[in-house]
Amino acid sequence: MTGIKVTADSLRAMKGRGERIAALTAYDFPMTRLLDEAGIPLILVGDSLGMVVLGYPDTTHVTMPEMEHHVRAAARAKPRALLAADLPYHSYEIATDAVANAQRLTAAGAEAVKAEGGREILEQVREIVASGIPFLGHLGMLPQHVLEEGGYHVKGRKEPEHQALLADAHALAAAGAFAIVLELVTPRVAKELTRAVPVPTIGIGSGPDCDGQILVTPDLLGMLPWFNLKHVKPRLNVAEQVRAVVREWKQGVEGLKG
Ligand code: KIV
Repeated sequence: MTGIKVTADSLRAMKGRGERIAALTAYDFPMTRLLDEAGIPLILVGDSLGMVVLGYPDTTHVTMPEMEHHVRAAARAKPRALLAADLPYHSYEIATDAVANAQRLTAAGAEAVKAEGGREILEQVREIVASGIPFLGHLGMLPQHVLEEGGYHVKGRKEPEHQALLADAHALAAAGAFAIVLELVTPRVAKELTRAVPVPTIGIGSGPDCDGQILVTPDLLGMLPWFNLKHVKPRLNVAEQVRAVVREWKQGVEGLKG
């Protein structure tokens, strides 16, 4: 892909110009290349990898070697987009681990890392940023906590949650996060956070008033009919198209027999 390379700083500057950020996930070479050719400026090798590619029930099973393997594949597309990657569950519990694992992901080709949480991971965020690795925050519903929380719940409805989100967003921005993903935050609170913090907010299931939107690409393309998500309306039905093409091809092959 030609054109000016997207950086964490250039994404951050988009907020000042009122430009919206359209971000998507990718887990391999071809999808990274296709998203990049379509002009997506931020591509995330998310730990949604666990559910949408590896067949795990949630993201808590994803390991560092699995993330590195998929980051390497995505990075081979050499995108113009900023390529960010998730630090998986339990890989950033203390600051030294957070930095060492962020460095493993950048050695694999990531140009920024994301981790879930606010004030409770502030030391980790500061150390990652101090080591020169751009950091993307993630607040709201935190998929790596799905087991403790007993499901995927919308955040910000209750006043203590609302106040905690505000404090966490301010803390992440002050610690050097270049943007913050807001997952399943009530649209009213997402709008307030977006106005309150100097860095872009990138929403998923958090209403239209964030500075950008991110989706899990297989959800957008209708590749996973087994998941029924409220926050995304698939734009294609790739699952049905694959079944239809494969059935037709199989019938052709079988017709050739005998
Ligand atoms: O893992 C992931 O794909 C994510 C996005 C949903 C933001 O964290």
